[in-house]
Amino acid sequence: MTRLIFCAFLIISLLGLVIGRGDPPGEVLKLPSEAVRFFRRPTHDEDDDDVGTRWAVLIAGSNGYWNYRHQADVCHAYQLLKNGGLKDENIVVFMYDDIANNEENPRPGVIINHPEGSDVYEGVPKDYTGEDVTVGNFFAAILGNKSAITGGSGKVVDSGPDDHIFIYYTDHGGPGVLGMPTSPYLYANDLIDVLKKKHAAGTYKSLVFYLEACESGSIFEGLLPEGLNIYATTAANAVESSWGTYCPGEDPSPPPEYETCLGDLYSVAWMEDSDIHNMQTETLHQQYELVKKRTLNDNSAYGSHVMQYGDIPLSKDNLFQYIGTNPVNENNTFVDSNSLRPPSKAVNQRDADLLHFWDKYRKAPEGTPRKVEAQKQFTEAMSHRMHIDNSIKLVGKLLFGIEKGPEVLKTVRPAGQPLIDDWDCLKTLVRTFETHCGSLSQYGMKHMRSIANICNAGIRKAQMAEVSAQACTTLPSGPWSSLHKGFSA
Ligand SMILES: *[C@@H]1O[C@H](CO)[C@@H](O)[C@H](O)[C@H]1NC(C)=O
Ligand SMILES: *[C@@H]1O[C@H](CO)[C@@H](O)[C@H](O)[C@H]1NC(C)=O
Repeated sequence: MTRLIFCAFLIISLLGLVIGRGDPPGEVLKLPSEAVRFFRRPTHDEDDDDVGTRWAVLIAGSNGYWNYRHQADVCHAYQLLKNGGLKDENIVVFMYDDIANNEENPRPGVIINHPEGSDVYEGVPKDYTGEDVTVGNFFAAILGNKSAITGGSGKVVDSGPDDHIFIYYTDHGGPGVLGMPTSPYLYANDLIDVLKKKHAAGTYKSLVFYLEACESGSIFEGLLPEGLNIYATTAANAVESSWGTYCPGEDPSPPPEYETCLGDLYSVAWMEDSDIHNMQTETLHQQYELVKKRTLNDNSAYGSHVMQYGDIPLSKDNLFQYIGTNPVNENNTFVDSNSLRPPSKAVNQRDADLLHFWDKYRKAPEGTPRKVEAQKQFTEAMSHRMHIDNSIKLVGKLLFGIEKGPEVLKTVRPAGQPLIDDWDCLKTLVRTFETHCGSLSQYGMKHMRSIANICNAGIRKAQMAEVSAQACTTLPSGPWSSLHKGFSA
């Protein structure tokens, strides 16, 4: 135990290496209103944009206080859209809703998304909360299919051919997969099918998808075709983590009473930009460039590569068409050079839970039940990680041999190719592995590429079952490994 905690200390210390260089924060450029006119599109074009309704779907795919930041992101996005002029009836919100009134929350009933931020929780519509945050409801909401909804408010994107749709998702992910607080998780091929269906129904003019998750590029890479009038950007490419920010011990750090990260790097980058500028004069492309720079975090180890997919020419559209604009920013025109924030420290999405348990442990007084609880949580999370990592490695070796196993699991297909062609195989092998080795859970999503490669190598269910049973003779008893919520595929 002591050794585990010490190991954790090392990890956290490593996380703590700050990259704090950079220019001082820029001011928002204020232009006289006459000058603003030069940045605006001609009036008839604006009228054209104003035809149709703006719709939005916002979804946080996680639960648990250590994932505070995802629901904080979504609440912030709601406030932004609301200030931008969208109506509640056109904003569909999915969040587990276990943060604001969580016993760990130092400000009951309040959620913040920035160290000095004010409450973003008030007024957020609770369309789909708790166990109603499901893949099925998310898809049905996008498709506007009320009869396919179970639970929740029943609100869906009931859009028409002239409408614009904005979808924002934030959570953990892995190659080809996005997390959900419920089972199963969301698989890339199913999301792409839904988007194709929505396009075939002719119920939007254009759609913008902002996606924050680890390996989020893999959701669209080689999968989202051109011609659907969809423009997507992702927090990370197909092979890397995305990053939490405003975490304990970072600069800027959350207020000391918060033992959790408040936001995510890509997410706060697009929202903090949208909060202060006139969206009528800023294009999706300008925001992409800015968010890319900020999320790359000075090319430090604490950043990721923002990607764009789908119909790139759509990115010449002004953000106004999708997220509206706050009238108070009328005179704040976006200018590249002065809109960047300085680089900040960030924490790998996958380590944010450990950071939370560690911070809780560190701050809890000696001998208190809280200290014991934090230590238990930390140890359980760590032993689940080791169990999953070792089991996958062993499965690879049993299938392909000691030397070739690790190679097969690590293989990355060339850029532009999807993770896998046979998604049903992937899902089957995930269920097979989980049957014997326990839940992959949030952390285990990182191994989706290995399981996809096992499919790509021609392995099918029977063989996978055999080696999984050999690899996993026992499971850690902690909640992370438990399958009580069901399979993740
Ligand atoms: C809506 O969902 C129901 C239930 O899943 C399904 O039977 C129906 O085909 C769907 N309608 C459309 C238009 O997709
Ligand atoms: C923008 O500038 C114009 C001209 O100076 C002024 O009349 C208007 O009130 C300003 N708008 C805002 C929201 O400050």
